Amino acid sequence: MELSNTATKACRGMLVFAFTLIVLSFVRCAYKHQVTSLATPGINPDKGLKDYYKNYFPMGVAVSMASLHGVDSALIVKEFNSVTPENDMKMGPIHPSENVYNWKNADAIVDFAVSHHIKIRGHNLCWHNQEARWMFKGPNGEPVTKELLLQRLKKHILTVAGRYKGKIYAWDVVNEAVDDSDDTTQVYRKSNWYKICNGPDFIDSAFKYAHEADPNAKLYYNDYNSEHPVKREKIYKLLKKLIADHAPIDGVGMQAHWKLNDPSPDELRKALDEVTSLGLKVQFTEMDITIRMPKPTPISGTTPEATSIPDSGYTPGVEAKQIAQYKMAFDIIRQYRQYITNITFWNVSDRSSWLDGRGGGLMGGAAAGVNTPNVVRKAYPLLFDENRQRKKAYWAVVDF
Ligand code: XIL
Repeated sequence: MELSNTATKACRGMLVFAFTLIVLSFVRCAYKHQVTSLATPGINPDKGLKDYYKNYFPMGVAVSMASLHGVDSALIVKEFNSVTPENDMKMGPIHPSENVYNWKNADAIVDFAVSHHIKIRGHNLCWHNQEARWMFKGPNGEPVTKELLLQRLKKHILTVAGRYKGKIYAWDVVNEAVDDSDDTTQVYRKSNWYKICNGPDFIDSAFKYAHEADPNAKLYYNDYNSEHPVKREKIYKLLKKLIADHAPIDGVGMQAHWKLNDPSPDELRKALDEVTSLGLKVQFTEMDITIRMPKPTPISGTTPEATSIPDSGYTPGVEAKQIAQYKMAFDIIRQYRQYITNITFWNVSDRSSWLDGRGGGLMGGAAAGVNTPNVVRKAYPLLFDENRQRKKAYWAVVDF
């Protein structure tokens, strides 16, 4: 009796053990399937973008405070080795009045990056948008003089770039100072900076101040639509002037707010050839490829509604075009690796892109929402989908 009881117990024990083994192997298999389902055959899912490109250039992403916590932060640490604050270092947000600096968010981003050994690009020191309006008014509300404006710009740059000296390895010193029109004689944007300084001197000055603030930081001029032939030539003129003036410029940030058919391979190569022929480096600073295209002009005699296209979202057709555009761009970019020192995506995943609230970015570049400022239409422009999973475009970018 004793014996048969012991035998039954042993038998039961073995059954439980076998059952546990079966369950465990199921769990393992399901987990493995979940992980490998992200991958294409032959590609290691444990690697991030930064690892695939470790012999090329840092791979970066624009971040906000929201990206520093939770799921996005894990993704950032896994995939990227460079960050750019999306808004928190711009003049308006960081320096809202003469004696007030908002360091909180910028410091938090810098601390996050430093603690994860991630490089930091600073963005930006002088721009016509998100500006610090107080800068343009004199002590009694009158328009500021050129001298006072440059003095304020200097103080701003010495203070901001000085605070992060040694931590920010590259700065967008001047952002978007070139005119968008097809008029080739209009090289410079008629911004407050340009108008008050009565010319483009503020650009040279900003570079000199940034160099004084942090002599080791790499200094970039940053702009969009830099592959469009007319704008490309205007940017080239500006760069030649900066070099002739001995401004301490290291390179050009091509924002890379692109579309499914823009730029063409030829335009991309030409832009790279022209900038690098001046001895300058290139960073692609704000990459995204919207799936949205401007609507065709209405056929005459019909109303715009009659020709409007229904919004079908991220269809297999646009997906294929986006994959092809990303692949084309990265094939070329890798060929120019000796000149390219950073690629940064503008936002983390398709869950939320700055283009979504601007009609999906129909107008291209930073002018993205000019005709559709408050229209919400998703752009699906990045390498991670709305669930933060790697898209097929991701695999096209790392498959080389
Ligand atoms: C955008 C941010 O992504 C938005 O959150 C903000 O509302 C407007 O600015 N060119 C630039 C970036 O240089 O600073 C812009 O960022 C996008 C276009």
